[in-house]
Amino acid sequence: MTRNGFALLFIAGCAAIAAVALSLRQPGTAPPSPAVSAPPTSWPDYSADGPGFQTPAMADGELIAYGYKLITQTFAVIGPEAPDPSLRLAGNNLSCQNCHLDGGTNRGGLPLVGVFGTYPKYRERDRRVDSLVDRLNDCMMRSMNGQPMPEGSREMAALLAFLNFIGKPQPVAARPAPPPPQPADAARGAIVFAAVCAACHQSDGLGVRLGSANVALGYRFPPLWGPDSFNDGAGMDRFENAVGFIRHNMPRGVDPQNPQLSLQQAWDVVAYLKTMPRPKEQRPR
Ligand code: HEC
Ligand code: HEC
Repeated sequence: MTRNGFALLFIAGCAAIAAVALSLRQPGTAPPSPAVSAPPTSWPDYSADGPGFQTPAMADGELIAYGYKLITQTFAVIGPEAPDPSLRLAGNNLSCQNCHLDGGTNRGGLPLVGVFGTYPKYRERDRRVDSLVDRLNDCMMRSMNGQPMPEGSREMAALLAFLNFIGKPQPVAARPAPPPPQPADAARGAIVFAAVCAACHQSDGLGVRLGSANVALGYRFPPLWGPDSFNDGAGMDRFENAVGFIRHNMPRGVDPQNPQLSLQQAWDVVAYLKTMPRPKEQRPR
């Protein structure tokens, strides 16, 4: 080989190495993370600043990942604007994780970790024993203001697979909100709403959408009432659920150990929310 030939090969070799090095250093690519091959035994963290969710490297890993997608991007798959009309089971553009925060892994945000093993469960509210399918469909019909998800569907199988996957750690015990120091007052709550909540949820309470209507991108800030909100049968329409959730999580990101709202303000703002219009439950039981 000539000297020139060698030089060319050398340059080509350097270029190839440089290209590989560059491709490894692409800005924005996440560092390679180990594949998850077993359900978490300690509390998982699927928040934006945590390690996040990875498709588990196990037999039903894809199904579990689909379940995670259904929880976090509900609007995109089963919302009223979802691409497949036969899957439009939810009646609003919320996601499950608008309430079950961080994919159901936020301890103070209605966590779904550990609940799998607690079903079937007797519920005082409906005076019957609920299977997990029944319970999921309560949130479908009330929180999501939609239709029950067929028991044999791939979507129901995926939700159950995801909840089973995060089902090992001990669930958080429910702590009912303490009663308000003074009776809850909607007029005082309106002042709290304007001062604290409207910055994100807007003064009309209808939230801020992502993308234009009909593109199924859900919300940046979800609505707190109005036609695209949960209906009046939903757990979040009840003082006992809403007060604790709002006090410990709103404004979103607040330290639950050091809430911004006083207990009285949380009760008052919920009293205000309860004066606002929302869809009626279609099939009360
Ligand atoms: C608007 C808020 C909201 C949305 C959206 C929502 N939920 Fe819920 N969910 C609640 C509340 C509040 C409770 C608990 C209170 C109660 O028993 O009524 C609950 C309870 C549950 C439970 C039972 C938890 C336990 O500890 O027993 C499951 C499972 C569940 N939801 C799944 C879902 C799924 C899946 C979705 C999406 C398809 C969803 N939820 C959407 C508010 C919501
Ligand atoms: C900094 C912005 C911000 C502020 C301020 C804020 N929220 Fe939220 N809120 C959010 C976001 C974002 C979500 C959805 C959480 C998610 O998807 O992770 C949410 C969810 C909710 C939910 C459950 C989902 C739904 O659609 O009903 C309720 C209820 C709620 N907020 C009430 C309030 C109340 C009441 C206040 C005032 C005390 C308040 N929020 C203040 C950002 C905010």
